[in-house]
Amino acid sequence: MRASRIAVLAACCLLGASCAANDSSESTAAATPSAGTAASRAPESAKPASAPNEEQTRERMAEIFAAMRFLLPLSLDEQAFEDPAHSPAIRNALALLDESSASLAQHGASREVSFSHLARSLSIDARDIHERYDQGHVREARYLVQTLAETCVACHSRLPAASDAPRSEAFMDDALVEKLPSAQRAKLAYATRQFDEALALYEAVLADPSFPANDIDLEGHLDDYLELAIRVRGEPARALAALKRFTTRQDLSPTLRGEVRHWIDSLQRLTVRGPVTSPIDVARAAIDRAEAGQPDVDERDSLVDLLDASALLHRFLADGRPPHSDQAEAYYLLGVIETRIGRSFWLSQAEAYLETAIRLAPGEPIAKDAYVLLEDFLVAGYSGSGGTFVPRDIREKLELLRKISEGEAPAES
Ligand code: HEC
Repeated sequence: MRASRIAVLAACCLLGASCAANDSSESTAAATPSAGTAASRAPESAKPASAPNEEQTRERMAEIFAAMRFLLPLSLDEQAFEDPAHSPAIRNALALLDESSASLAQHGASREVSFSHLARSLSIDARDIHERYDQGHVREARYLVQTLAETCVACHSRLPAASDAPRSEAFMDDALVEKLPSAQRAKLAYATRQFDEALALYEAVLADPSFPANDIDLEGHLDDYLELAIRVRGEPARALAALKRFTTRQDLSPTLRGEVRHWIDSLQRLTVRGPVTSPIDVARAAIDRAEAGQPDVDERDSLVDLLDASALLHRFLADGRPPHSDQAEAYYLLGVIETRIGRSFWLSQAEAYLETAIRLAPGEPIAKDAYVLLEDFLVAGYSGSGGTFVPRDIREKLELLRKISEGEAPAES
């Protein structure tokens, strides 16, 4: 799956399509309107036990960023990236990226599922890019470096962040980055944790009359913006104001206008909501409401509610404890949300969440529900249009998970 995923992303970038893969789905954290219980508190306040892990993460991140800070701007310049004179420096940076990502994945294995899944994903991709470059596939490596930003966003968008990273401040001033269109700059700011700048850039995109409203939507910028405002920044009021401005544009299709109206209603509710004491109940209710509307209501109408629900769930899960059975439902609900608002099958974390739910509650109803959804999701994803080809390793894995969900096989394996 991994190899094909990267090939798909590469192909979509080569075609100049927007590689809207993102993170959108997995993300998370409505910082604001909900704090309240221990369960919904931000991970910054998590137990000291996780502190060394966090320190290690920051150290690895500094290395990963050092590599990307060199590679990303260079990858925007075809000639420079393909110039053999740069190849020793590129090789060094790719090696650093590869090693640091491998180390992140290694220590990340003990962290929450979303972190360890994305750290693994980054490390597989970093290894792949490094190898391709060494084998002389320079152009492919160049595109893949750019697509990697989606993985950075996916991880950084899960949880609230009170402030921006000082380390990456200067990155956005790089001459090559500065020349990019606002939407691309917004993505890079998001990937490097310059969240304020990313918010401002997305808002500029939403207000840009030369950028048709429906293209802004199709390219995923509305999703990215809402995710950032709701999960990372916890600023529903700001998103509300931006969307109200957006609806004054004349070029929204009726469908998009209807969706934005629903998002505005949801944001309005979030701005007046008090502390959330039972995040799982709130998330479950949001999903039930979204499903109750089917099939009459457009699935995307629920985007804001589902982003908020995923924010609550991520914060509930990022409490520094290893996964345990009372988290099974939270993982299941995250999986449900991911299958609804995740934009790309290939970057989806639905599989990781649903598998975790199954393993945490073997033989229980929640595991059976998770299994049914996982099977549907994978079969639909692999089959695509027409065929019904599901790779053999995936079929074998599904069979094992089915047995675990029925309580017929041990959960750990
Ligand atoms: C598996 C999750 C994950 C992935 C993938 C990830 N990051 Fe991070 N990143 C973090 C966490 C967690 C922090 C620490 C946030 C904090 O300080 O609390 C962080 C911090 C950072 C920082 C700030 C470092 C500092 O010293 O202040 C930068 C810059 C950064 N990441 C860039 C990137 C880039 C670029 C990528 C993609 C190539 C990336 N990250 C991928 C989780 C991730």
